[in-house]
Amino acid sequence: MTLDQTRLRIAIQKSGRLSKECQKMLKGCGVKLNLREQRLIAHAENMPIDLLLVRDDDIPGLVMDGVVDLGVVGENVLEETVMERQAQGDAAEYNVLKRLDFGGCRLSLAVAQELDYQGVKSLEGKRIATSYPWLLKRYMDSQGVKFKSVMLNGSVEVAPRAGVAEAICDLVSTGATLEANGLVETDVIFRSKAALIQSANALPASKQAVVDTLLPRIQGLQQARE
Ligand code: PRP
Ligand code: ZN
Ligand code: MG
Repeated sequence: MTLDQTRLRIAIQKSGRLSKECQKMLKGCGVKLNLREQRLIAHAENMPIDLLLVRDDDIPGLVMDGVVDLGVVGENVLEETVMERQAQGDAAEYNVLKRLDFGGCRLSLAVAQELDYQGVKSLEGKRIATSYPWLLKRYMDSQGVKFKSVMLNGSVEVAPRAGVAEAICDLVSTGATLEANGLVETDVIFRSKAALIQSANALPASKQAVVDTLLPRIQGLQQARE
């Protein structure tokens, strides 16, 4: 199954905190999706839209590289990708079409309950595990605290107990994951929601027409929830 260039391509998270809400939003916009387990591409039945189901971390890059036309991303992942790409001299352009009313979370520092935490200076010279090294560095630089970054792509909360770091910097939504791992949230460094972004390249008129149909519908869905 290949992708038709004339159909609007939208990337959404395959599984995770944003996926159900994204699917609900598209359904609410009247997009009939034929989603099947393990299938990473879904064609809308009634509109020229193809969905790509991918890892959330990959979505900003897919939009910035023009692989997809639209993407639903967490602002945290978006900002991290922008910082990483700018550092590498890669293009990091996109347009925010709409800030969405779901996917709220915060990127926070957290430490083991046993640690005597007296503010961020307590982390001077310590190891901090994270999937967001650029956002973390920006915050620590702003606080004038030197630290060692330990990159983990997942299960970051296990790091202190595993002995690979003294603190973590990860997303917190309900706080259940921190609590289950004996960690205490200390500093909020970034607040995030989901956003609908579009590639910076101008779309052909037929695709733009689909975007122009979707946007007011999304607006309507959000207003109905306010
Ligand atoms: C985040 C984060 C934690 C969890 C916290 O993961 O990495 O694991 O959510 O949520 P809680 O405070 O409600 O327990 P995310 O959904 O971003 O998935 P990912 O790490 O697989 O991208
Ligand atoms: Zn992720
Ligand atoms: Mg996680």
